[in-house]
Amino acid sequence: MSNTSIPVEDLTSAQAAEELERLAKEIAGHDERYHGQDAPTISDADYDALKLRNAAIEARFPELIREDSPSTRVGAAPSEAFAPVKHARPMLSLDNVFSDEDVADFVASVRRYLNLKDEAELVFTAEPKIDGLSMSLRYEKGRLVTAATRGDGFTGENVTANIRTIDELPDRLEGDAPDILEVRGEVYMRRDDFLELQKRMAESGQTFANPRNSAAGSLRQKNPEVTKTRPLKFFAYAWGETSEPLAETQYDAVQRLGEWGFEINPLMERCGSLDEMVAHYRAIETRRADLPYDIDGVVYKVDRLDLQERLGFRSRSPRWATAHKFPAEKATTVLKAIDIQVGRTGALTPVARLEPVTVGGVVVVNATLHNEDYIKGIGNNGQPIRDGRDIRIGDTVIVQRAGDVIPQILDIVPEKRPKDAEPYVFPDRCPACGSHAVREEGEAVRRCTGGLICPAQAVERLRHFVGRNMMDIEGLGEKQIEFFYNAEDEALRIREPADIFTLANRQKDSLTKLENIDGFGAVSVKKLFDAIDERRAPPLSRFLHALGIRHIGETNAKRLARHFLSFDALRSAAEAARMPEGKGDPGNGEWQEIVGVNGIGATVAEALVEFFAEEHNRRAVDALMKEVKPADEEPVAAADSPVAGKTVVFTGALERMSRDEAKAMAERLGAKVAGSVSKKTDLVVAGPGAGSKLKQATGLGIEVIDENQWFERVEKER
Ligand code: IVH
Repeated sequence: MSNTSIPVEDLTSAQAAEELERLAKEIAGHDERYHGQDAPTISDADYDALKLRNAAIEARFPELIREDSPSTRVGAAPSEAFAPVKHARPMLSLDNVFSDEDVADFVASVRRYLNLKDEAELVFTAEPKIDGLSMSLRYEKGRLVTAATRGDGFTGENVTANIRTIDELPDRLEGDAPDILEVRGEVYMRRDDFLELQKRMAESGQTFANPRNSAAGSLRQKNPEVTKTRPLKFFAYAWGETSEPLAETQYDAVQRLGEWGFEINPLMERCGSLDEMVAHYRAIETRRADLPYDIDGVVYKVDRLDLQERLGFRSRSPRWATAHKFPAEKATTVLKAIDIQVGRTGALTPVARLEPVTVGGVVVVNATLHNEDYIKGIGNNGQPIRDGRDIRIGDTVIVQRAGDVIPQILDIVPEKRPKDAEPYVFPDRCPACGSHAVREEGEAVRRCTGGLICPAQAVERLRHFVGRNMMDIEGLGEKQIEFFYNAEDEALRIREPADIFTLANRQKDSLTKLENIDGFGAVSVKKLFDAIDERRAPPLSRFLHALGIRHIGETNAKRLARHFLSFDALRSAAEAARMPEGKGDPGNGEWQEIVGVNGIGATVAEALVEFFAEEHNRRAVDALMKEVKPADEEPVAAADSPVAGKTVVFTGALERMSRDEAKAMAERLGAKVAGSVSKKTDLVVAGPGAGSKLKQATGLGIEVIDENQWFERVEKER
C-alpha cells in the first residue's frame, strides 16, 4: 500500500523507510525513462511532487537517507541540493556609479572604447536594479534542468529542487526557445509578501531583516517543501549560454524572454542619450516607494549586442553595463525611547522608537541600535565610532534606510541634544522575565539567563526541549507547542517543561478536553500522552541537552553526563561552584571539577553555573524533577570493551536499533563512530541495502559484521 497520503509529520520510522525505498525506485525509473529513453510517463508536476515528498521525508528522518537516494544521486537528474555548479558562462557583477557625472563618465568611456564619434547613435537600456539574489536557470530543450546561485561568479550552488517550487517560473518553455538557454535574473520577494511572511514566522520566532534576506534564506532551504511555502518571484534580465543568438539588441532579447514565459520588468526603457538615461533614473527613483518590491538603483546596458560583444569584460564586470545606485536615504528625527527586545535565543536588542519621519517615501518609527556598545559610541572592534558620541533619549538622530526594511541610526546632531539628556543605561535584567542579563567576555550581545521561564524564549525553548535529539516527544511539534503555549485554559496550557508532564493529569479534572479540539482526536491524544509518559526516564545526556543551557549541546551534555553520572551530582556541583574572581583565583573545588571534565572549558562551565544560579531556572527544574527522573549514566566500560578505541562505521539499514542509538551505544563502549570508510576504519557494521561503504570496506580488507554479530560482540557490555 502507498503511504503517500500520510502527512510526513505522522509517518512512523518504519513507514518512512518503506516509502523512501519505494520512491527511490520509482524516481530512478522516471529518470531513466526521461533522460535515457526520452519517453517520460508522468507529468513534470507529478515528478516534482515525488521528489518533494522524498526530500520532505528525508528532512524528517535524516538517518534513513538511502545510499541510492534520489536527492543525493548525481547523474541522470541533476538535483543534488547545493552541490556546486560550474557556470557555462561566468555570472558577473556590475560596477556602481552614484552621480549624474559618473553616468556621463560611463557613457564617455563606452564611446571611447568603441571609438564612436560624438554624433554617432548609442542606445542604452535603463531598468530597475532589483534587490534580490541572482540566479541562473538552465533550460535544455525547453525544460528546466539546473538552477544555480551566483556563488563566486564561476561556481554557484545547485538549488534546482527549490527553484522548481516557484510557481510563476515556466518549467517547460513553449514556442521557439533555443535548445540551450541559460536565463539569468533576480529571485526576489515582494514587500507585501515579505511582511505577510514575517507575521507568519514571527510566531515561530525566526524572522528575516528584509525581503532580500528573506528571499535568499527561503531559497537556501535544505527542504524544498519549506521553500514552497515562501512567496518567491523572479525577474529575467539577462542570459548566459544560449545555443543561438536571442536577438540583436538587449531590449529585444529580454522581450523574447518575456514571450517564453518569464516575468520581465515593465520599467525597462531604451534611452538614446545621457539626458534620457538620467531622466529615466529620476522617474524610477520617484516611483521607488510605490513599487511592490525593493530596488536599489538603475542598471544601464548598451543596447546593441554586437557592441556588448566588442566591449567585453573587465575582471569581474562588463564594460557595457553599470549600476546607478540610489543614495542611501537619510532623515533626522527625535529619539523618543529605547526599547529592549528579547530574541528567541535571549539576546537583548535595543530598538529606537522615533518621532515618525519619512525616509525615501517610507514612514519610519523604529530603527535598530544594534547593541549596547553601539549606543555608547563603541564599534565592534572596541574602537570609538561617531567620534565616540553616545546616543541618548531626546537626541535628534540621523536615520538611514538603505534598501533594508530595518532602518538604522547613524549618528546624532550634537547641537540639538537637550540639556537634561542622560547617558542611556542598558538594563542588566531581562525586560521579559526579570532574570539577569549577562554579557560574555568578547561578546557584543547581552543575553537573558532565564532560559526556561522567559516568555520571549519559552516557545523556542519548549520546542528545543521536546526535539528529536533531546526529549524526543512524538506528537509535540511546532504547531502543537504554539497551541499549548497560548492556550487560554489552564488545563491545556504548557508554559514550561514540567507542564508537559502534568498535562494528562490536568486534563483528567477538566471540562476542556483536548480530544474535542480541532486537530486532536481521541486517538492522537492517547498517543501523545503515551509518548510523554515514555520519556519520564530520559538518558541523562539527552535531558541535559534538552534544558537548553547555553553552550551545552549534544556533545557537551554527553561529556558532563559521563563525568557526573547523575543529574543530582551535576546540579550540586553547579550550584556549589564558585567561579574565579580574577587572575590567580582558581575558583573552588566544584568549579575545578567542572572545568576539569574532559572537553569542558570555562565558557561552558560558566553557562552551567549561571543557569543554576538563576532562581527561576532552579524552580523550573525542581518542578520538572517531580515529573521525570533522568536515568543515571552507566560508568564507562571503555577500557575493556571489545570495541574500545576502535573506529566503527554503520551502513545500510539497521533493524534492531536506530542509527542514533547505534552511535550512542558504540560511543558508550569507547568506540569512535565515523560516517565514511577509510584506512582508519576498524570495523564496519553493515545492514541490508549497504552499498558503496560496504564495497570499500571489503576492498580495504576491513572486518565487516552484521547487526546481530554486533550485538553478540557487545552484549555483555551493554
Ligand atoms: S545585469 C553582466 N540587471 O545586481 C551583468 N543585474 O550588482 C549581469 N541585478 O549580480 C547583471 N537587477 O544580481 C542586471 N536589472 C538587472 C539587475 C541586476 C539586479 C543584480 C544582479 C547582479 C548585481 C550586480
